[in-house]
Amino acid sequence: MNKNLRKPVIAGNWKMNKTAAEAETLIGELIPVAKDATCETVICVPYTDLAVAVKLTAGTNIKVGAQNCHFKKSGAFTGEISAEMLKTTGVEYVIIGHSERRQYFAETDLTVNRRTKAALEAGLKVILCVGEMLSEREDGITETVVKLQTIADLTDITAEQMKNVIIAYEPVWAIGTGKVATDEQAEEVCAFIRAVLAEKYGKAVADGVVIQYGGSMNPKNAAGLLAKENIDGGLIGGASLKAEDFAALLSAATNG
Ligand code: PGA
Repeated sequence: MNKNLRKPVIAGNWKMNKTAAEAETLIGELIPVAKDATCETVICVPYTDLAVAVKLTAGTNIKVGAQNCHFKKSGAFTGEISAEMLKTTGVEYVIIGHSERRQYFAETDLTVNRRTKAALEAGLKVILCVGEMLSEREDGITETVVKLQTIADLTDITAEQMKNVIIAYEPVWAIGTGKVATDEQAEEVCAFIRAVLAEKYGKAVADGVVIQYGGSMNPKNAAGLLAKENIDGGLIGGASLKAEDFAALLSAATNG
């Protein structure tokens, strides 16, 4: 199975949660539970927690990610953080194009693409989020939407750079709602995304790309989702904030 070519990646998306002191506590709980995980383990924390996260996870198998970055290296962009700044802080991953940024912060496929390019050029690994809204699913245009996002967001990204890109399929209606996609619904779209990548980059490249599912993934539903051929991990919000839940997801990915 081609699934064996890919190492699963479980990434926590802490969103706007945890002060630096709270992060220290949670990371202290996560380090022992992540110790034996055979999947890649990532925590994407708020900017203010990055320094403490990088320091505490040094020498462990937990990698640190941010949740966004700007596309310019420096300049008059009040409130923004560049990809280079993240890289020099010791960050390895960055989430780009999360639906909350698209919905609440006017993120478009153009800016998602620019941020993706900047992050890759700075040497970061990108977790690129795509996914349809509930109305789009109900209108039967899930594949059209997801294809357009994937193609637009990856404009000018080379096959070589795809080694550092993870795609997170996150149906917007499943995020933070407790309404998880069924294993079949999630697999269908993840397989479709892989086919879109194969069309653009060829099958060998597409088979190597990690595609995560995200949206209300939790210890109860993770094993079924992660067993699917085209689902190589998860981007996890709510359940990444509790060490016990995150531990269960790591072991589901380790055994899956
Ligand atoms: P959730 O969030 O697991 O809380 O649904 C997932 C995400 O937004 O990445």
